[in-house]
Amino acid sequence: MDKFVVNGQNKLSGTVQISGAKNAVLPIMTATLLTSGKSVLHNVPHLNDIKMMAYLLRVIGAKVDMEADTMSIDSTHCSYFEAPYELVSKMRASIYVLGPLLARFGQAKVSFPGGCAIGTRPVDLHLDAMRKLGAEIDIEHGYILAKSKKLVGTTIEFPKVSVGATANVLMAAVLAKGTTILKNAAKEPEIGSLIEFLNLMGAKIKGKDTSVLEITGVSQLQPAEMKMIPDRIETGTFMIAAAITGSEIKITHTIPKLVASLTNKLELAGVKIEQQHDSLHVLPNKKIIAVNISTQPYPGFPTDLQAQFMALMCLAEGTSKIEENIFPDRFMHVAELKRLDADIQVTKNLAIIQGVPELSGAPVMATDLRASAALVLAGLAAKGETVISRIYHIDRGYEKIEEKLQALGADIKRVKG
Ligand code: EPZ
Repeated sequence: MDKFVVNGQNKLSGTVQISGAKNAVLPIMTATLLTSGKSVLHNVPHLNDIKMMAYLLRVIGAKVDMEADTMSIDSTHCSYFEAPYELVSKMRASIYVLGPLLARFGQAKVSFPGGCAIGTRPVDLHLDAMRKLGAEIDIEHGYILAKSKKLVGTTIEFPKVSVGATANVLMAAVLAKGTTILKNAAKEPEIGSLIEFLNLMGAKIKGKDTSVLEITGVSQLQPAEMKMIPDRIETGTFMIAAAITGSEIKITHTIPKLVASLTNKLELAGVKIEQQHDSLHVLPNKKIIAVNISTQPYPGFPTDLQAQFMALMCLAEGTSKIEENIFPDRFMHVAELKRLDADIQVTKNLAIIQGVPELSGAPVMATDLRASAALVLAGLAAKGETVISRIYHIDRGYEKIEEKLQALGADIKRVKG
């Protein structure tokens, strides 16, 4: 397995270009199953999760081609309506095929995703909503067996905000008979871009970027073409890379307002950030002030930036509190950060970080996608060498992260394992 070897305390400088958003591309890829014909997606990043989703769509019968950052998907000849355990267990987003397969073919067999490093990851909200739309859902031998003659629109109120359930139910409701109202829907930008894509396909969805969505079912859809939005989590990760090394960098091909919650917290921590239309300029900071965060659904502070922000707070002046409200177990990175001499205490879903003057490099292990990013950031700031193993986690969600950091002046290299 590959490793990253990082020698810390280099200043960064220059410009980094943000790639397309993994979590926007994944549901849009499955949305193409809703119609025959060829859809085209631009600004698609080269990530393992995207490759795995392409593989799943091919298993189902779609034709998927990638040329540079353009992906084409032709779902005319789909004939196998199953997402097998081997795939779903590796990538939870495979569950996104459930809604489209049910809506277009009236049947789907999808393995239960199982747990992962950040928690049990249930799908009850997905299944309850599909039942409310009239689907028959049975569970057999670890598989979800779903079938329906015709989904029928209804009103669904989610008991808690769920990005995945909102996406899945949107894709089921667009071909349902009648109108569906989704209440307490996720407002993440990736849901907004899915709505845009579905409406380009001929769907009738109102309420984008609000928590109440109205979907008027249509009889059929057609393929669409769209440019994917930039990755706000990659954007935030590079903003923190600048802050943790006291550097000045420019971050382009992004949308500043999508990281407003992080920008506010970084400014409270003493980091100056200038915003332009599609770029951010992080200015060098003298010191980092301890700041508290509490993760929330969008537009609150994103759980996907919690580990990265914690790495920064390890070097802050003072004590900070990080409350993880989305995935209460999402603290696998704490033990690894403590190996770098961080001072962190965890009680349930609250981490208390006492800032230290310096981190010192050590061998550490990545446990999940965003925890690995936090370890890279801590390694950039630590004195000496940090070796990060199991970096296949990071390859799932960051396109060429070591090349982008090298171009900014970081001393990081990938060692083939
Ligand atoms: C999406 O996961 C993202 N993944 C996650 O990003 C992100 O952390 C998460 O949303 C929150 O923003 C993709 O978009 C592929 P949820 P998802 O359903 O949809 C509970 C990354 O790093 N829940 O919004 O799985 C759930 O356990 C990944 O790119 C239920 O209880 O998240 C959690 O506590 C990690 N029942 C909360 O809701 C359900 O049926 C929010 O989860 C579904 C979820």
